[in-house]
Amino acid sequence: MPLIRIAPSWAIPESQVTSERFYTNRRRFLKGLVGAGIGASLLPLTGCGQSETEKTALKASYDLPALKNLSQNPAFSQVNRPVTDQILASQYNNFYEFGGNKSIWSNAQDLPTNPWQVEVTGLVKNPKTYDLDDLKKAFPLEERIYRFRCVEAWSMVLPWSGFPMRLLVEAVEPTSEAKFVKFTSYYDSEVMPGPGFHLGSLPWPYTEGLRLEEMANDLAFFAVGIYGKELPKQHGAPIRAVLPWKYGFKGAKSIVKVEFVAEEPTTYWHSLAPNEYGFVANVNPNKPHPRWSQATERFISEGPDLTWEERETFPYNGYGEYVASLYG
Ligand code: MTE
Repeated sequence: MPLIRIAPSWAIPESQVTSERFYTNRRRFLKGLVGAGIGASLLPLTGCGQSETEKTALKASYDLPALKNLSQNPAFSQVNRPVTDQILASQYNNFYEFGGNKSIWSNAQDLPTNPWQVEVTGLVKNPKTYDLDDLKKAFPLEERIYRFRCVEAWSMVLPWSGFPMRLLVEAVEPTSEAKFVKFTSYYDSEVMPGPGFHLGSLPWPYTEGLRLEEMANDLAFFAVGIYGKELPKQHGAPIRAVLPWKYGFKGAKSIVKVEFVAEEPTTYWHSLAPNEYGFVANVNPNKPHPRWSQATERFISEGPDLTWEERETFPYNGYGEYVASLYG
């Protein structure tokens, strides 16, 4: 979020312009934080102190059907860090359409995911709109354990299930004019109230993008599951992008459209604050965010309560052997 847009509006008493629900959230959000934007929302996990009803609801939110015909890709069967506890990962999320703090898992249960279609369009020889089930059948599903690094300097290790993006690229055959891809997330203002800390309009739907050669790299992945099961809504059900060498905001959730284009597409955070959230956004410990260092990260692994260990951040999040040549 660019401070430039927010600052003038903050002069207006917030209770006059936000609903009570988001006014309350916003007060919590602002407490202890400076600035705004994705880098500012570092609220503690609310796991401890949850009622039994909340715990049951949380369990239902991640205890989903197992994915069938899932194989593990041996090249990505482990990293040198433990996999993050599933409960922690499923209640510490960024999904700004549903709120501006980390505890949006329950709000995200309002996301309607059935039926779901993904339109693949633009500069391709074979445009196609896939029903989600067709997509899952068209491309063999595999599990990959990837490091996950948020631009906010927290990190996890997550076992995603899905298929490499290059398989979709091969299926739709981009034309020679296609140089970029644009991902568009689902948006419906009826169920998605937004982060609550903004007073102006935000450029929904959430969009992200890649260069075509980045999308065709073996690491680029469409996830339809996590921990061997279908993707919970808070993680971006039913299909989201996972790009482990880039900051997490590049991985658009709940994708409805994949469009092949000639020019670099406009993307959500980049359009709001280009100096803070670049289009390429590769993990880089030597390039600080304007408001914090990226040299280390807060690695979240074990529950039940949120704790983190400070760890070194690696260039390309440790995936240089796969992707460094793209940026030579
Ligand atoms: N996609 C959409 N549609 N909306 C979002 O707010 N947040 C991004 C990314 N994808 C976001 C999104 C950011 S900032 C991060 S770090 C990751 O999702 C978080 O993914 P997770 O909640 O599954 O860990």
